[in-house]
Amino acid sequence: MGKHKCIGILTSGGDCAGLNAVIRAVVHRAVGTYNWKVLGIRQATKGLMSRPPQGIPLDIEKVDPWLSIGGTMLGTTNEGNPFAFPMSDGTLLDRSDEIIEGYHLLGIDALIGIGGDGSLAILRKLAKQGNLNLVGIPKTIDNDVGITERSIGFDTAVNIATEALDRLHFTAASHSRVMILEVMGRDAGHIAISAGIAGGADIILIPEIPYKISQICEKIRERQEQGKNYCLIVVAEAVRTEEGELLMHTNRLGQSRLGGIGQYLADTISDCSGAETRVTVLGHIQRGGTPSPLERLIASAFGIAAVDLIAEEKYDRMVTWQQREVMSVPLEDAISKYRAVEPYSTLVKTARGLGICLGD
Ligand code: F6P
Repeated sequence: MGKHKCIGILTSGGDCAGLNAVIRAVVHRAVGTYNWKVLGIRQATKGLMSRPPQGIPLDIEKVDPWLSIGGTMLGTTNEGNPFAFPMSDGTLLDRSDEIIEGYHLLGIDALIGIGGDGSLAILRKLAKQGNLNLVGIPKTIDNDVGITERSIGFDTAVNIATEALDRLHFTAASHSRVMILEVMGRDAGHIAISAGIAGGADIILIPEIPYKISQICEKIRERQEQGKNYCLIVVAEAVRTEEGELLMHTNRLGQSRLGGIGQYLADTISDCSGAETRVTVLGHIQRGGTPSPLERLIASAFGIAAVDLIAEEKYDRMVTWQQREVMSVPLEDAISKYRAVEPYSTLVKTARGLGICLGD
């Protein structure tokens, strides 16, 4: 490989705040420090599947204003696994070789893939098959990528959910209502436990800790006896009904998405406690908007570290945030170790210590 590399960067899976800050840092380091070229690949692997492949040259002047912009300027997709890509005639086609060919057509020496565990696993499979040089950067508001303590998007999502709780607090108190906030987290309760503590929730329900409706009603009654006539509940979207059902809805394209646990709780709680309840589903608001200052810091640190890994030709690795430092681990280890909320972790102990009911 020559001295002047050309690297590609793509964002894959659901968008979130902080992605553009990562791209900006990558370009600063690659162009500014190493004098390499950077190509931004449009629409994740779809851009490598297109002919000609969609790679936009990125320079410092272009990306410098991107620090605080939400979403991803490169576009993304979370549809269409390239190993079983849905075609217009309804069949599924393995298009992995087209992506590998697209990488070579662009003349890329290494690729930075920003994704969650699903996207990173697909990118790794492609890299193995095509002998591509890949470095991963973890991103997901769910914060459930293995090993890393933080993924891009999480901090901003927690800030948004916390602000929502702050706002709900006053209206709940004014009307003596039980307010339920349903937050995202496809499998894990990281957003719910963090925002719940930060936003002063009375009850936090996460998929990692089974709950009983009777415990929730007991907590509401206990508060009423103390003269506190309202209650704030945060629930992660992946929490099941008491009977163990995962509430999903399927759209006309056949895509299933979580949703409905907030309303289920509202109905069930008003039955057992007599309390007036209202539900707020925060949804994609958690993914949009301006990245928080901490997000920008982590995004910048991850971007620089990913480029440095390429400079050292250390591939098949993912950058991580561990004990206030950026480190890197084998990508295989990160994607094989799913990170749920540990039932005995500091945040769970903190919530219990504050008298927050976790439903158990
Ligand atoms: O994984 C990130 C996430 O935002 C989950 O929290 C949520 O369940 C899902 O993506 C929503 O996906 P979509 O944007 O496809 O509706």
